[in-house]
Amino acid sequence: MSLSRQRMVQVLIFMGLCYVLLVGLEVPLVFKNGFSLVSQDGFGTGQFSNSFVLDSEEDLKEKDAPNRPIDVPLLVPSQVKNERKIREIKSVLSSLVFDGSYVNMTSNDGFSGILKSAKEAFEVGKKFWKELELHKKEVGMQWGTAQRCDGWRSRDDEETVDGQVKCEKWIRDNDSNHSEQSKATWWLNRLVGRKKKVDFDWPFPFSEDRLFVLTLSSGLEGYHVNVDGRHVTSFPYRIGFALEDATGLSLNGDIDVDSVFAASLPTSHPNFAPQRHLDMSNRWKAPPLLDQSVDLFIGVLSAANHFAERMAIRRSWMQHQLIKSSNVVARFFVALHARKDINVELKKEAEFFGDVVIVPFMDNYDLVVLKTAAICEYGVHVAFAKNIMKCDDDTFVRVDAVIKEINKIQENRSLYVGNINYYHKPLRNGKWAVTYEEWPEEDYPPYANGPGYIISSAIANFIVSEFDRHKLKLFKMEDVSMGMWVEKFNSSSRPVQYVHSLKFSQAGCVDDYYTAHYQSPRQMICMWNKLQQLGRPQCCNMR
Ligand SMILES: *[C@@H]1O[C@H](CO)[C@@H](O)[C@H](O)[C@H]1NC(C)=O
Ligand SMILES: *[C@@H]1O[C@H](CO)[C@@H](O)[C@H](O)[C@H]1NC(C)=O
Ligand SMILES: *[C@@H]1O[C@H](CO)[C@@H](O)[C@H](O)[C@H]1NC(C)=O
Ligand SMILES: *[C@@H]1O[C@H](CO)[C@@H](O)[C@H](O)[C@H]1NC(C)=O
Ligand SMILES: *[C@@H]1O[C@H](CO)[C@@H](O)[C@H](O)[C@H]1NC(C)=O
Repeated sequence: MSLSRQRMVQVLIFMGLCYVLLVGLEVPLVFKNGFSLVSQDGFGTGQFSNSFVLDSEEDLKEKDAPNRPIDVPLLVPSQVKNERKIREIKSVLSSLVFDGSYVNMTSNDGFSGILKSAKEAFEVGKKFWKELELHKKEVGMQWGTAQRCDGWRSRDDEETVDGQVKCEKWIRDNDSNHSEQSKATWWLNRLVGRKKKVDFDWPFPFSEDRLFVLTLSSGLEGYHVNVDGRHVTSFPYRIGFALEDATGLSLNGDIDVDSVFAASLPTSHPNFAPQRHLDMSNRWKAPPLLDQSVDLFIGVLSAANHFAERMAIRRSWMQHQLIKSSNVVARFFVALHARKDINVELKKEAEFFGDVVIVPFMDNYDLVVLKTAAICEYGVHVAFAKNIMKCDDDTFVRVDAVIKEINKIQENRSLYVGNINYYHKPLRNGKWAVTYEEWPEEDYPPYANGPGYIISSAIANFIVSEFDRHKLKLFKMEDVSMGMWVEKFNSSSRPVQYVHSLKFSQAGCVDDYYTAHYQSPRQMICMWNKLQQLGRPQCCNMR
């Protein structure tokens, strides 16, 4: 091989060889200890120095930086005429608008504490959501420009990747003498025990017709490439990409891959594994909304990382014929999680199934009441529901039984149905203590237990308009808040029929239940199977 040819080869871009591509999100590789990928590549014979040179960066990007298929098509009805639908399809976000500008940050009276944290939670949530959108855009566009090494060691002031330089120096043709020297000096220095650091240059790592072993491994900050055991280059993860975003590897250039060997590929993320819980099958997607108003809208409170809980509901009571036929509509209401990877999964889930409404604030147990407001907003403005039900993601709902219970009530009456508590008093000490600032009165108003209650659309409408006018009082216990709002509605000469039933079970499951609480994903499936097989409600007493 002539010197000039070899020189050309030295200007090769090493990065291009191991171009880690984002191929899709079906099998996100999540690694605990990093993965290593060993390839034994044999060079083809022939026009090595000519054609091994990579195409231009632009070509690479065009050909190899793929668009990630993150935009899973949503279930779009054949004709979209209704404005309601357009809005729903456009975004998985709740259209509840929290106007933080009216919140008096210096006020200390009764209900302002929750408003202050709501304001903060929405501000952080907005930032998080923007990042998520950006994430999608970046991924949707391309991987970015390639990093190249031309045989010179990275400057000392350049950032390192897990302590490794981005590019190592290779010996060049025209300073081979120098390196012979330095090799000799290096040995000499070792022999005499001198501490002085002497650079030791490796020869160019590839030559024509020779096999080499390339190892790609992932560290905390980026990927590392070794050839025949020597470090050659390291490149950091791109901003906005997590390690698990990389799902493929592509090699460019005139090389023949002899074999590829993958090791240390863990099957699940140490902390959560939505891909294990979520069954991305069209079967479980939410049916499209119809044009007419629906009998019942069910809002299910859920936390971002409750992938398994949501999936169990999709597989069980959300399969009810009334929901499948869109006479009853059910949606999960979820706020944002502190962990970005969970939000990324949540967004994908929401876009795929079409049954998740993201309320864009940082989740916080004291702010659950905001999700209740978002449920009312969605029930009134998107689902056009006659009645609105709220439950939790560990609530099993017998949809037909609930409808039957509602239908007992005179058509035009406003209703508040559930397991209603009368004359309950706030706990003033202990873990769940409520201070006098938070709740000045001695009694709570009559309120239905949170895991399953129904209000009529007139009440929901009242709640939404009060919220929009900044008149809605928020209390950290969402069920008590609802009791307070219904009481206010009732007292403005619009009488509400309160219906109390123990079949909206608060403490677990009772025979002949309408709703059952504290049900695990397994129990959900079991209860659904019993309903299907026996035709009657029966509890499942396992966890
Ligand atoms: C905010 O609350 C403080 C303390 O209650 C009060 O002095 C101030 O006037 C309020 N500001 C506004 C704009 O309402
Ligand atoms: C070796 O060649 C490179 C270009 O290939 C040149 O930049 C460099 O100055 C040369 N070094 C010596 C010592 O001649
Ligand atoms: C390498 O060194 C030898 C003698 O030290 C010299 O004759 C030769 O020309 C040098 N080669 C290069 C490429 O500099
Ligand atoms: C319901 O109310 C409307 C107007 O408020 C009235 O026209 C209608 O007759 C009422 N229906 C029943 C069943 O009371
Ligand atoms: C609802 O309003 C009616 C009439 O104003 C009143 O008699 C009733 O006690 C109220 N119910 C509740 C639960 O507040």
